[in-house]
Amino acid sequence: TLEVDVDQEGVEISPILYGAFFEDINYGADGGLYAEQIKNRSLEYDKSLEGWSLVTKGSGKGKLSVDDNEPLNENNQHYLELNIKESGDGVGISNAGYWGILVEEGKEYNFSMYAHANDNFNGTINVSLEDKAGTIYGQTQIKNISKDDWKKYTARIKADKSIESAKLVVTASDTGTVFMDMVSLFPEDTWKNRENGLRPDLVKMLDEINPSFFRFPGGCIVEGIDLDNAYHWKETIGDLAERKVKYNLWGYYQSNGLGYHEYFQLSEDLGAEPLPILPAGLSCQARGAELEDMDEIEHWIQDALDLIEYANGPVTSKWGAKRAENGHPEPFNLKYLGVGNENWGPEYYERYEKFHEVLKAKYPEIKLITSSGPMAFDYNYARAWDWLKTQPADIVDEHMYMPPEWFLDNADRYDSYDRSMPQVFVGEYAAHGAGRRNNLEAAIAEAAFMTGLERNSDVVVMAAYAPLFNNVNGTQWAPDLIWFNKSDVFGTPSYYVQKIFSQNVGDITLATNLSEYKEESEDITGLIGLGSWETKVEFDQIEITSDGKVLFSDDFNSNDANWKVFDGDWKVEDGLYKQTSRKSNTASYAGNTNWTNYTLKLKARKISGNEGV
Ligand code: AHR
Repeated sequence: TLEVDVDQEGVEISPILYGAFFEDINYGADGGLYAEQIKNRSLEYDKSLEGWSLVTKGSGKGKLSVDDNEPLNENNQHYLELNIKESGDGVGISNAGYWGILVEEGKEYNFSMYAHANDNFNGTINVSLEDKAGTIYGQTQIKNISKDDWKKYTARIKADKSIESAKLVVTASDTGTVFMDMVSLFPEDTWKNRENGLRPDLVKMLDEINPSFFRFPGGCIVEGIDLDNAYHWKETIGDLAERKVKYNLWGYYQSNGLGYHEYFQLSEDLGAEPLPILPAGLSCQARGAELEDMDEIEHWIQDALDLIEYANGPVTSKWGAKRAENGHPEPFNLKYLGVGNENWGPEYYERYEKFHEVLKAKYPEIKLITSSGPMAFDYNYARAWDWLKTQPADIVDEHMYMPPEWFLDNADRYDSYDRSMPQVFVGEYAAHGAGRRNNLEAAIAEAAFMTGLERNSDVVVMAAYAPLFNNVNGTQWAPDLIWFNKSDVFGTPSYYVQKIFSQNVGDITLATNLSEYKEESEDITGLIGLGSWETKVEFDQIEITSDGKVLFSDDFNSNDANWKVFDGDWKVEDGLYKQTSRKSNTASYAGNTNWTNYTLKLKARKISGNEGV
């Protein structure tokens, strides 16, 4: 029985309690949320031809290679060089994207590429969507390829039939050499029909959990594999052809087509506070990478200052002007900024304190989030909390990937939290049970834990499940909130827990009292066996009836060696088992499996104790 006392108010619930954590893990961005269909569009992967194959049609003959003699720009050094020796029915390239390209009848696809050709080439470029057998599902042509500099070409393809898994094929119809870079294909149908857009079905799922903040870009991606590989937000804005492609620590390349500007834009679309996490100027210590020279910390702090200006500065400021150039003159209203992800130890503390000093002096209104490390690393985690007692962070980011039992046991974790400490951002959490599966057990444990977050929302101001997305073809980490392939998307039980909580968040908590039994219980139907009887309960009387067919095994008596249940005296009366005197009444299962198949009705009246069935 749950009693709610409407006269006894608890705490105000943080208006930004339930949010979302996004990281490009499990192909969450490229191959996921980011609707680009072409893998390695800019040829900047180390094995540069990855994703690309030579196509020859009819008697066509040619050669495909990667060149870097006349790059598109400084950040985009490599491009495709296609030598056509015999044109046949076409010689060219193909790319099957991320596990095939979904093509839907009647829909349009936006193709673009940079190209030029040598003087010998006077042909046409054919662009088509094809299956393995070469059947065409939609096509277009590009003529008059530049003989001089790189030029951008765009074209639309309308699909005349559907196919689950197509490839993009670009062929040339003449002999000569054609150079190509930034070969791209987007479905016309993107979130809010934006160019360089996002997959609408995935954003819709995200939107439906009503996130009040949106954390990006991670996660461990923030620090990268080492400092060179750390996430530099400035490399992820502006002209797509000039964004730096990066190998990420989850083992694949990121185009950064979904970059900081798009993250801010998405936050705005979702009505969520943008919450960037910046590298703190050191590598993730859990990976044991070398630390940076302390003098260089200024550079990382400057990046943070510039980011705040990019988000909030006037269009007359250097970075505010870039925001306007990128299509958003209005500020993004950044209010929160994280410094470091899962960092701890003296090197981190030293760096954080410097960030804090500089950022607070210039932007006192921005709330700074500091890292405490993941709970699983007990020792470091405890050290982080000792440090937190001595410094003035606004909010501390705690990460919890723990078993479901932990979440159940910790539903009261913040009941006794020292209110003089920083407020808490439960920045990453998920119940990890056996096999790390997204099952109901995990979801219910998370839900129990979330009741404790909400009850203590005066200190727990933000929380996010992590990770958010998982492309089922490219998983590095499970469990995850939302699973998808190229055509389908579904929410896990944990997703629906997030949705229920975030769509029903209140203004204040009210005092509650939960009693586990009614004084006289209803009939309870359940399986007898492991679990049901393991807990300690006391009854003054137990009456157990069968459901008509199933009768208790003769084993059922308090003296049976296999069972130590309901010590006391029992008698059968009118088909009921009645306990006529009570001793300790501690029930524990000892292996009699006869019982596990029976559905029984049970009537119990509690006299004391609150644990039990
Ligand atoms: O959510 C997956 C990873 O878990 C994050 O990148 C990291 O912060 C944590 O260890």
